[in-house]
Amino acid sequence: APVAAVIPAAGRGVRLGPGAPKALRALNGTPMLIHAVHALAASRHVSLVVVVAPADGPAEVKSLLDAHALSGSAPSGSWGSTDFQVVPGGETRQESVALGLAAVPPEYGVVLVHDAARPLVPVDTVDAVIEAVRDGAPAVVPALPLADTVKEVEPATEPGAPEPVVATPERARLRAVQTPQGFDRATLVRAHETVTEDVTDDASMVEQLGLPVVTVPGHEEAFKVTRPLDLVLAEAVLARRRL
Ligand code: C5P
Repeated sequence: APVAAVIPAAGRGVRLGPGAPKALRALNGTPMLIHAVHALAASRHVSLVVVVAPADGPAEVKSLLDAHALSGSAPSGSWGSTDFQVVPGGETRQESVALGLAAVPPEYGVVLVHDAARPLVPVDTVDAVIEAVRDGAPAVVPALPLADTVKEVEPATEPGAPEPVVATPERARLRAVQTPQGFDRATLVRAHETVTEDVTDDASMVEQLGLPVVTVPGHEEAFKVTRPLDLVLAEAVLARRRL
């Protein structure tokens, strides 16, 4: 089955500090979103990328993508052998993903969902996710063990106030999950039609349908650029890749 990737890039990136929408901020001079599209288009399996732009910014995103097309001769709307489309996003990440998914034609049997905020994911991670979906898993997430111990707390109402600890889940059984998350298309469509409460990742919607979700090994370089320090790390990774 052909593979499409949906890249939600409509978030404002408040935690990164003031400035442009997060996906449009530069890493070593190139917008984060462009790095993310390159990372997915690098897989020879991915033939369509749907970028979900800030609601007021599809035209700007479209011209950015055209300006960074891989080959100078590629027609507008494509990077080499990967076509792209831009659609406007929604209020939440979940809405943005649903809007992107609606733009994926039915012949794409496998759909990846990848955060624009994970611009440096290696192509081997992308391909491992695709392979696991093609092998029959309805939903696949890249995952890594945790370095930190995690506590469940009773959240304080005022920021900075002490919070009572409720429980300490066994660290060895926990995983931090990344993107791209990969799905059988029909499963992801059904998940978006069925699950109405807020979620922070797409795979959890498939869990709520009672269907199996499996992990493949994630990668340190697939980290999410969220806070100012992450920008420093991302630029260091890019500099090291150029060596
Ligand atoms: O906020 P968070 O870091 O979880 O955002 C993850 C991804 O979802 C980012 O790429 C962001 O641009 C995207 N997003 C979106 N639409 C929203 C909120 C977030 O496309 N309304």
